[in-house]
Amino acid sequence: MSVRKILHLGHPTLRTLAKEVPLEEIASPEFQTLVDDLIETMRAANGAGLAAPQIGELVRLCALEVNKNPRYPYKPDIPLTILINPVIEVIGQEAFQNYEGCLSVPNLRGVVSRAAHIRVSALNRHGEPLVIEAKGITAGTYQHEVDHLDATLFVDRVVDRQTLTTWEQFDEFHKEEWLVAAAQIVERFGS
Ligand code: NI
Repeated sequence: MSVRKILHLGHPTLRTLAKEVPLEEIASPEFQTLVDDLIETMRAANGAGLAAPQIGELVRLCALEVNKNPRYPYKPDIPLTILINPVIEVIGQEAFQNYEGCLSVPNLRGVVSRAAHIRVSALNRHGEPLVIEAKGITAGTYQHEVDHLDATLFVDRVVDRQTLTTWEQFDEFHKEEWLVAAAQIVERFGS
């Protein structure tokens, strides 16, 4: 297991479609090591999620975990979840807007619109089917990670470029107001 280098915006791998993981490869030591590396790298960087393309592997695999995350204090907790070949189905038509950031886009945040209620179908790290329903900010986190597998970054989805902000300026000018808005999203949609 090792902490891997996280690729940054501009690296062509982040802009390349990731391939489906063949079922028979999931149990291989190579793939299981990749899953462990992804988890370790996500945790070392305090990420809420990390997708395999972000560590240079173009396969449809991502990890999510939120446990009182210091990078995203308003995010509801998510237990460690491994998604292989995930497919997202949007439920209903409600959407919400929230600031997003990304370990592959250092020091930038911006407001993105996300579906408020989704169902994720995937395989877990043992190759077993997994179906998760998620709402609100948690639903947004899933959509952000699966976007990486389709070569999409949050900057592509920013609703208004004027919302782009560095983390320092976010803390100084937007955080207080947004903590209230984020709490309202959690209250309205749950997680
Ligand atoms: Ni990201």
